[in-house]
Amino acid sequence: MKGTILYSSMTGNTAKLAEELHKNLQAKGEWTLHNIKDGTIDLASSEVVLFGGWAEGGSFNKAALKCLESLDLKGKKLGLFMTMGSRTATEHGRMCAANLGKILENYDGIGHLYLTANPLQGQFYDLF
Ligand SMILES: Cc1cc2nc3c(=O)[nH]c(=O)nc-3n(C[C@H](O)[C@H](O)[C@H](O)COP(=O)(O)O)c2cc1C
Repeated sequence: MKGTILYSSMTGNTAKLAEELHKNLQAKGEWTLHNIKDGTIDLASSEVVLFGGWAEGGSFNKAALKCLESLDLKGKKLGLFMTMGSRTATEHGRMCAANLGKILENYDGIGHLYLTANPLQGQFYDLF
C-alpha cells in the first residue's frame, strides 16, 4: 500500500505522533511523511492519506483544515489524527472527537484517532 502522512504541528506533539505512525506503517507499505509547512506534496500515487493536526478551539487547527480542504482526495482513503491538551474522556475531549468525525464525513474515511498529547495507543494501525 502506498500512503502519505501529512501533519501540522506547532509545538511538536502531532509531529511526534506522525513520526510514530510513519515508523509503524513502513512495515505495511511505502509511506511518505510530510509536514504541511514544507509546502505542497504530490499525492497522485498515494492510495491512503493520513492527515494530522492539533486541537484548536475544539476542532482541527486552522492551518490543517485549510490545507486539508485544498487537497484533491478523490479516489483516496483518508484517516485523521489529532492531538490535544485536554483529556479524551471529558466533554470537551468528546466534542473534539465528534468534530473530527464530522470533518471525515466529507471524505472516504477510514477512521479517526484523537489523543491527549502523549500516549500512543496503536489502534490506528489496526485499521489497515
Ligand atoms: C491556540 C491554541 C488552542 C488550543 N485549543 C485547544 C482545544 O480547544 N482543546 C484542547 O484539548 N487543546 C487545545 N490546545 C492544545 C493543543 O491542541 C495541544 O497542546 C496539541 O497537542 C498541540 O499540538 P502540537 O504540539 O503538534 O502543536 C490548544 C493550543 C493552542 C496553542
